[in-house]
Amino acid sequence: MTSDYSQMQKAYYEGPTDPEHIVGNYAWHENFPYETLLLYVDGDIRRPLFSSFKGLKALDFACGPGRMVSRMSRFFPRVDGADISEKLITIARKNCPQSDFWVTSGADLGDVPKNNYDFIYSTIALQHIAVHQIRDRIFRSMKERLRPEGKVTLQMAYSSTHPYMPTRRDYSLELGPAKVKLSRKVRNHARWLENKDQAQVTNSLCDVMILPEDLPVIRQEFSSIFGSCQFWLYEVASRFTPPFGPRHRVPYWPTHWIFIHAGAHLDK
Ligand SMILES: C[S@@+](CC[C@H](N)C(=O)[O-])C[C@H]1O[C@@H](n2cnc3c(N)ncnc32)[C@H](O)[C@@H]1O
Repeated sequence: MTSDYSQMQKAYYEGPTDPEHIVGNYAWHENFPYETLLLYVDGDIRRPLFSSFKGLKALDFACGPGRMVSRMSRFFPRVDGADISEKLITIARKNCPQSDFWVTSGADLGDVPKNNYDFIYSTIALQHIAVHQIRDRIFRSMKERLRPEGKVTLQMAYSSTHPYMPTRRDYSLELGPAKVKLSRKVRNHARWLENKDQAQVTNSLCDVMILPEDLPVIRQEFSSIFGSCQFWLYEVASRFTPPFGPRHRVPYWPTHWIFIHAGAHLDK
C-alpha cells in the first residue's frame, strides 16, 4: 500500500499544479533564515555544524525547483538534489546547472550515490509525507548516502498546541466561520507513527503532525539510525501573516518548525 501512496504523491507533484504553487508562499520561505537553522546547532551561530565548508558535498532531499539548492550553494562548493517529481527536477536543473539531480520513487533516495555526502538537509517537504514506514525508509536511505562523519538537518512541522487550535485574534477576525473548516483539515493529518497510506492528498492537505509527546519516539528513531539526535524548535506561528499568505486560505496548523539534527559527532 505504501507504493499506492508514493504513486499518489508522484501524480500530485507531476500534475497540473503550477510549480510556483508547490512551494506555497514562496516569498515567505525566501525570507525565512533557513541557512542559520540548518547549519548551526539550535540555530546558535556559536555552534556551527561544520567548522569549514571546504571540499564538502551537500544533498537537498525533496529539493523541488532547487530554491534551497541555490541558497545552500553559497556555503557548500557542491550541492545536489533529489525529488519525487521529474517536472520539478527539470526546473531545478535549469535553475542550478552546476548540480546533479535525481528523480526518486518517493520511498527512498534511489540512485543518489551512497557514502557520498557530508550533509543532507530538507525543508518544507518531509512534513508532507504522512506514512511513517516511508519516512523511516527515507531516513535509512539518507544514512546510506552520508559519509561516515556525515550529518543531517531535517526541517519538519510541529505543534505545541494541538488538539487545541491556537487562539490568534487576527485569525479569528479574518476567518470567522472558516474556523470549522480548519479543524476538519487538522483532523486529516497523520500522527507520527501512523501510516496514512490511503491518503488521496498531500502537500499540506494531509501532513504528519509532530506533537510534544512524539519527541521521545523521534529522538529514539533518529539516534538508532544516525547515532545521535537533537531538536531545535523555532516558533513560526507569529510569523505567519493571516491567513498565511495568498496560497493558504486557512492558517497552517504548526506553531513551530522543528529542526532535527542527527549524525555522527554532533558536538564536535
Ligand atoms: C513544498 S515543496 C518544497 C520544495 C523545496 N524543498 C523548498 O524548500 O523549496 C515539497 C517538495 O517535496 C517533494 N516531495 C514530497 N514528497 C516526496 C517524497 N516522498 N520523496 C521525494 N520528494 C518528495 C515534492 O515533489 C516537492 O518538491
